[in-house]
Amino acid sequence: MTTASLAIIGGTGLTQLANLTIVKEIQLNTPFGAPSAAYVQGELNGQTLIFLARHGNPHTLPPHKINYRANMWGLKELGVTQVIAVAAVGGITPLMQPAHIAIPDQLIDYSYDRKHTFFEEDLQAVTHIDFSYPYTAALREGLINAAAQANIPISNSGTYGCTQGPRLETAAEIRRLKQDGCDLVGMTGMPEAALARELGIDYAALAVVANWGAGIVEGEITMAEIEQHLHTGMANTALILQAFLAKH
Ligand code: HPA
Repeated sequence: MTTASLAIIGGTGLTQLANLTIVKEIQLNTPFGAPSAAYVQGELNGQTLIFLARHGNPHTLPPHKINYRANMWGLKELGVTQVIAVAAVGGITPLMQPAHIAIPDQLIDYSYDRKHTFFEEDLQAVTHIDFSYPYTAALREGLINAAAQANIPISNSGTYGCTQGPRLETAAEIRRLKQDGCDLVGMTGMPEAALARELGIDYAALAVVANWGAGIVEGEITMAEIEQHLHTGMANTALILQAFLAKH
């Protein structure tokens, strides 16, 4: 069943794509269980694409409960070859202030206890994917160009640290992530990126900064603060996506 080659996975703050003309909703089951939500096939800027709400629609699945394998398997079944993952993150290094957008080029995985591979049962051979560069260079390049086109300042690189959640980090954990070289912290980047690679799907991320990581500025991190910055960041994300689709 080939429906579209491009998919967008929306994270917190992006449960629906504005301006997407919905063609149909596709409910799939997979050998790994049910995806987070129905896949929405639609048209945006004349391009057919698939949209998936990572946390479900409405937003009910916390990061550690998302069935990443089902989500990715379903996209593969639909004929998707490129995934743009939109994700809310905390900012760690100075450029990554709230509402900023980054297109990460590296990641470190601190998550645990997640179903993180397709290669575990009925194996004919043990498979170790190359994951030196976890995000697809050409797709990142396309997004970087789209941001320039849309006149949205972004960071065109950065290291994403994936924590387990759903709680936010301690100040010490953020200090450790910084020492490790992380610029951003989120909870959903893995195993999503690795599963895409296992299936041969191109994958790049638009990371939208919702808040400073714990302890970087004084005070508690509130949901109200997160929502406010995500609102601005997601509006800019939509402009980048539209510019990307215009060129696609
Ligand atoms: N930490 C982890 N994930 C996040 C954060 C954070 O501070 N903000 C948004 N997603």
